[in-house]
Amino acid sequence: MTPEQSALITDSWAKVLPISEQAAALFYGRLFEVYPEVKPLFKSDREQQGRKLMGMINTAVKSLDNLEPLVEIIRDSGRRHAEYGVKDEDYDKVADALLWTLEQGLKEDFTPVVKGAWVTVYTTLADVMKDGARMGS
Ligand code: HEM
Repeated sequence: MTPEQSALITDSWAKVLPISEQAAALFYGRLFEVYPEVKPLFKSDREQQGRKLMGMINTAVKSLDNLEPLVEIIRDSGRRHAEYGVKDEDYDKVADALLWTLEQGLKEDFTPVVKGAWVTVYTTLADVMKDGARMGS
């Protein structure tokens, strides 16, 4: 992650944060519409779930320049995700719905460069989570 990418993420996330509840609702709406097969994995209240997802992205965004202290926490989450029944290939589905959601929220500010920076952040998180799932408990 370059300093330029880091700044793009911080700025674009600042625009999504005030509408994070709507963003979460858009995200799950899109995810379940395009990938209905993942819907049964989600058991808890959708609103609570949305807050957790946005919270973890928020934490990661705030720590972009030094994700190292978060690695163990992200791995643990990956381990739990495997227990929820999440498979490696599901991460691409969430990526797709998340990028679509950011595009809805940011509109013309969601440039290819901003998108590229988000792909980098998401891929980093997802790779650490998948590692955690593989490593087991
Ligand atoms: C970088 C990607 C992701 C992030 C940041 C993320 C974040 C979170 C967080 C913070 C939680 C709260 C509980 C916990 O940490 O164990 C959670 C739960 C969950 N996530 Fe994710 N997640 C990601 C990817 C995925 C994917 C790919 C799927 C599968 C489609 C998924 C499905 C779930 C499910 C089923 C739960 C539990 C729901 C329940 O309580 O009913 N997540 N996620």
